[in-house]
Amino acid sequence: MASGVVRFSVSVSPELLKEFDEVTNIIGYDRSKAIQQAMRNFLNEYKWRYEEKGLAVGAIVLIYNHEVRGLEDSLTDIQHHYRDIIQSSIHIHLDEQNCLLQVVVKGEVMNIRRLAKDLMNRRGVKQLKLVTLTY
Ligand code: NI
Repeated sequence: MASGVVRFSVSVSPELLKEFDEVTNIIGYDRSKAIQQAMRNFLNEYKWRYEEKGLAVGAIVLIYNHEVRGLEDSLTDIQHHYRDIIQSSIHIHLDEQNCLLQVVVKGEVMNIRRLAKDLMNRRGVKQLKLVTLTY
């Protein structure tokens, strides 16, 4: 393991950085410490999924901008492609621009993860959460 620290740069929207700094200040972290914490949380949340095999049930919840051209068609195409593992989906119109989509899934955890990744990679998808429970 290398010692010391590594500096790196990332690109984010000014709004996201502003909100991040506000919350970071409230809890008394500096930006580096907050990013480290966020990276650890990210690893806790995602790392095990790469190792997991077997059946899982769960839900993918995402918020997207329905005004982005082609996005809704593309989200529908993806759901048709993964119809074998999709049990149900709910679409809620949050405001003029934003929609929430919840997809309930059951199947091989690798396929569920692939579906989540395909959805997340679409331009206009702002946030995505995947919750899986294995059995
Ligand atoms: Ni909608």
